[in-house]
Amino acid sequence: MANLTSSTALPVLLDCDPGIDDAFALAYLACRDDVKTVGVVTTAGNVSQDDVLRNALGLTELLGMNAPVARGADAPLVEPLMTAEETHGPHGLGHAVLEECGRPDSRSGAQLWVDLAHQYPGRLVGIVTGPLTNLALALREEPELPRLLRRLHVMGGAINHRGNTGPTSEWNIAVDPEAAHEVFEAWGKASQRVVLGALQATEAVRLDEKHRQAVAQLKDHPVGAVLADALQFYFEFHQADGLGWCAYLHDPLVVANAVTGQFAKTRPLAVDVELTGTLTRGQTVGDELGRWGKEPNVDLLCDVDAEGFIEHLLTTLGGWVEGPSSGH
Ligand code: RIB
Ligand code: CA
Repeated sequence: MANLTSSTALPVLLDCDPGIDDAFALAYLACRDDVKTVGVVTTAGNVSQDDVLRNALGLTELLGMNAPVARGADAPLVEPLMTAEETHGPHGLGHAVLEECGRPDSRSGAQLWVDLAHQYPGRLVGIVTGPLTNLALALREEPELPRLLRRLHVMGGAINHRGNTGPTSEWNIAVDPEAAHEVFEAWGKASQRVVLGALQATEAVRLDEKHRQAVAQLKDHPVGAVLADALQFYFEFHQADGLGWCAYLHDPLVVANAVTGQFAKTRPLAVDVELTGTLTRGQTVGDELGRWGKEPNVDLLCDVDAEGFIEHLLTTLGGWVEGPSSGH
């Protein structure tokens, strides 16, 4: 990859809930010389805000990422917080546990969104791999965000596809449906659509035993050890959940597509979130037939090159771990 100066590298803000696949996404960003992660926001989701913040501080330290990490809200806008320790481990990184290290930025997660959008007008790529709580709070602070950001990429939703949380809902949206609705509505009035990686796309990225072994071979490196221990737990969860000895790695696909434009195509779709359904609250609904008469607000990832992406991810992580680890 071109060894770009930090001024020409793509500025990225990652809003995440690490979380095992979020950890892989963060590590992937650290591997790329053509990307500068200029901020990390932590959103409660997979585990509590205290745990996602500790994980983000520990991972950015291990990765040599010189980026502010800002603590997000402790709970969703309306829905009581639910967490998923059975999926991501008692503290969010499976069998890996990071010591307390580093200090969060003095700003809130929402404030960091707004400040960075103004600092990089038209250039900042926002990526959300957790619930949309803090982006919604930032939008309330700065309604111009959709026009200030270069692009917004989100992992979330299951559109005409079974859910992984409720029968029809996907985790990131189900944790904070009101926030997701506010984000999709705001981008519906903007000139550029949200790039959305929903379950039907991200579940194409299914790691199997040979992939698990490839990550396990990175254990001599501090980051590799965390990823390997985390992935081991993730495989154990998927097997216990009846999905077989595998792991769906959702977040890294959305991040890699955001910074490369590769590994998936997109198609425009009008999308909103069900807020009042008794059986379907938190469902992400796509208007495939145009019944709402609304312009598309989402570019939905489709036609995923899962094999190509998995190879790219493992090669990128392996090359960085084995090579001179470059700080970001
Ligand atoms: O549904 C998958 C999403 O929920 C991923 O982002 C995973 O990390 C969890 O946050
Ligand atoms: Ca996540």
